[in-house]
Amino acid sequence: MDEQIWSDVDTYIGEHLDMADPSLDATLSSSRAAGLPEIAVSPPQGKLLMLLAASINARRILEIGTLGGYSTIWLARALPGDGELITCEYSSEHALVARKNVDAAGVGRLVDIRIGPAIDTLPTLDGPFDLTFVDADKESNADYFRWAVQLSRPGSLIVIDNTVRQGAIVDASRDDPATLGTRSLYETVADEPRVSATVIQTVGSKGYDGFLLARRLAD
Ligand code: SAH
Ligand code: DHB
Ligand code: MG
Repeated sequence: MDEQIWSDVDTYIGEHLDMADPSLDATLSSSRAAGLPEIAVSPPQGKLLMLLAASINARRILEIGTLGGYSTIWLARALPGDGELITCEYSSEHALVARKNVDAAGVGRLVDIRIGPAIDTLPTLDGPFDLTFVDADKESNADYFRWAVQLSRPGSLIVIDNTVRQGAIVDASRDDPATLGTRSLYETVADEPRVSATVIQTVGSKGYDGFLLARRLAD
């Protein structure tokens, strides 16, 4: 097993299950042209986000980490016409690229991009959100999780990207900020009685990683 076959299988899945269209393709190509890092969720992951949001009939979505708007567009497509997606992005340059992409994808009216450090934006938001997707600076994930719980209601979902990190979480020699932040996230989730959570390990075009899924329980 190697990364090439994981990537080839992602391509196969994408070709068979309707995961590319001109707006999503244009979002990736304009993001690349603008020099943004190529770290958006993969097409199967983006579609999973859309299906999760649609499954709970999400009307209000919160995203932390917009980049060029690729995951934003997937999530926004699950929303009804009067839905709302607030997405937090540190970089005004990334936000500008994302603004153009979400507008061109026809979901611009649903998407509110808040520029600045997410930790400053989160206290200004009014909940509840039906789904929160966390995909920004990994060292802050415990804080983002706490905010996501605070801004949720019973039944809300919280999805956090990059929570396996090629297994770095169990590699005792790893003490970089993203790994420490990820371990701190697991401890915070474990100590939070208001959610039920799991992590699914993934392979694919983005290598070996995983996402955390938490559901807010009844009060
Ligand atoms: N969710 C996107 C990818 C996000 S990449 C997708 O799948 O398409 C991570 C993004 O988080 C980058 O654009 C980065 O600028 C942003 N970011 C990093 N630190 C941040 C912070 N403290 N607050 C808000 N955004 C941040
Ligand atoms: C990186 C960030 C991500 O959110 C991701 O999914 C993959 C890589 C990174 O910062 O390298
Ligand atoms: Mg990510």
